[in-house]
Amino acid sequence: MTSPAAFAGWLDDTNDITKAFLAAGQIPGLINIAGGLPDPQVYPAAQIAEIAQRAVRDYPAETLGYGPLEGLPDLRSAIAERFSSDDLHLGPENVLVTTSGMQALDLLGKVLLDEGDVIAGQFPTYLGALDAWRPRKPTFRAMPLQSNDLDFTEAMQGAKFAYTVPNFSNPTGRLVPESTRRALVDAARTTGAWLVEDDPYGGLNYDSPLPPRLIDISAQSQPQADRAPYAGPVVYLGTLSKLIVPGLRIGWVIAAPAMIDALTLAKQGSDMCTSGLTQRMACEILNAGLIEAVNPVMLDLYRRRRDALCDALDRHLSTWFEWEHPEGGMFVWVTARDRALDTDALFKIGLEERVCFSPSSVFDATGVFRHGLRLNFTLNDETALEEAVRRLALATQRLVKP
Ligand SMILES: Cc1ncc(COP(=O)(O)O)c(C=O)c1O
Repeated sequence: MTSPAAFAGWLDDTNDITKAFLAAGQIPGLINIAGGLPDPQVYPAAQIAEIAQRAVRDYPAETLGYGPLEGLPDLRSAIAERFSSDDLHLGPENVLVTTSGMQALDLLGKVLLDEGDVIAGQFPTYLGALDAWRPRKPTFRAMPLQSNDLDFTEAMQGAKFAYTVPNFSNPTGRLVPESTRRALVDAARTTGAWLVEDDPYGGLNYDSPLPPRLIDISAQSQPQADRAPYAGPVVYLGTLSKLIVPGLRIGWVIAAPAMIDALTLAKQGSDMCTSGLTQRMACEILNAGLIEAVNPVMLDLYRRRRDALCDALDRHLSTWFEWEHPEGGMFVWVTARDRALDTDALFKIGLEERVCFSPSSVFDATGVFRHGLRLNFTLNDETALEEAVRRLALATQRLVKP
């Protein structure tokens, strides 16, 4: 029998850690601090069930049929209105509704990347973005946002786009300060690169007010006296996933109309339209103020868990590791004091001790960053977090003194 045709070459680029991740779910008693998952106890399930029922009853054709590629007009307008300000003038033509934030990343790859094109990125970076772009075979160029050198023009020169998660980045949990944000926007203007601002975590802000968004800074620096719709280089990505629930799979892109048009064409070959049901529900959720109602509950719960995780790290892991206390988001970024400590190896021993974390290699386009780990604090309660860190300490002891 003839063997089936081969899979595309990029599939060979995935590492065995990704495969081990998939298998980890089967281990009994495992504590999973690897993912970026909300705690389902914060989902306002009863209210969402009512909204779903009303949506189908009141809008049967819209919720059960095909809809416009760009998204429901009501939802596009609601998003435009939510993000508009005195400086940032947005109309529905600036908004594309996507089937979650992940689809927006995928579509950006489709409309911007030919083989070998350069992405300037904040590394380590979001694994899902690397996964979305890898099939297009881009070249990744590091753009270190933590350095004192705030000139990003070299990193962005010739790049198709720069990718940033300025609010509590995944995986590092870092908040990019305002001066760095302004420098990024300046460099995008100078070089002509698009500047992608991926912002799933801005709502999970535990300690102090956020600096302005890149898209707002960009609008400020180009006053639109005639109130024309935004036409700058920033491509802002939002999602309902961490603001309320991930299961609706609703995200959005806010960008110059020319970018929205290109992404819309790409979406046509992807899913034809995002679910009308979940879009209508998203409209109702925004209009009812449900995000604002749930947010304080989320913040209170997650802030306590962040503190518990950091306290547990203090108690059990400080001999071998250091970490940053994040002001928001879902993750604590931990790095080994000894750069030779290999967290891919630790990951495997961790599974034997029934704890699963994300090793840093998966967030690095080249896979060479191997002395860090990302720990999630939103899914598990304080007791489980303490136990997870205790197990991590046992695994580390086994690794360093075999
Ligand atoms: C940085 C970043 N961007 C985008 C996403 C995509 O989220 P979703 O597809 O659920 O909207 C995530 C999810 O974890 C993320 O961490």
